[in-house]
Amino acid sequence: MTLATIAPLLISGAIGAALLGVISTEAMIEFVLAAGENPGMITFGAMFVASPIQWLTGRSQVRVRKYLGIMFFLLALSNAAMFVLETGVGAMLSAPFLIAGTIAFALATPLFLTSSRRSQRAMGMKRWRSLHKLTYAVAAALLLHVILIGDIGPGAVLITLGFIGRIPAVRRWLTSRAAQRRDNVRHIRWRTATAVSQAPNVRSDRRLNVY
Ligand code: HEM
Repeated sequence: MTLATIAPLLISGAIGAALLGVISTEAMIEFVLAAGENPGMITFGAMFVASPIQWLTGRSQVRVRKYLGIMFFLLALSNAAMFVLETGVGAMLSAPFLIAGTIAFALATPLFLTSSRRSQRAMGMKRWRSLHKLTYAVAAALLLHVILIGDIGPGAVLITLGFIGRIPAVRRWLTSRAAQRRDNVRHIRWRTATAVSQAPNVRSDRRLNVY
């Protein structure tokens, strides 16, 4: 969450510094590209792994996922924009790893544009969920992007874990662990409540001069 917040702030700072002439355009492009790549990948990976974490812990990750999704898109947008500024639109499809990056960015765009609750209501949850299955394609394209570059970082590891967590057998195991934990908590609460209700009531017993 911190990385997903700091990276866009640093990018905005670098763009502002270039506009004010404090740093050169080239330095700004280099900085924004670097700030968008690994932080972008890690932000997406954290968002992608949030659902398996939700199945494991039983705690809703919806707000975290939404925040990370929006931050990821801002990083991807600045990354793509700087690439175009530096190399031109034509170069976006000039190599397989660039095609994969461009596909990831292109598919992430409708997800970002429909990330609001208003879009959910307007589209209906069924259609919204179908559209947001594109997240899997974005994840696969991002993995391909970095595999083709030969740079497997923490973001790629998180995405891989996200895919593993979605394998039906693994998902069943994660959800059963959450259910088990819920049962344990319920059992402990029940035992505590029973112990408290069965304990001698000291104040009322005193009044009866038992002690
Ligand atoms: C959609 C979001 C994207 C993410 C999260 C992302 C992520 C990354 C990562 C993690 C790297 C490796 C960084 C490193 O080696 O230190 C990288 C490199 C690179 N990406 Fe992307 N990328 C994205 C989109 C794009 C797009 C749209 C383009 C251009 C079409 C692009 C072009 C490049 C280039 C040129 C490199 C450097 C390759 C090299 O060092 O040989 N990326 N990207």
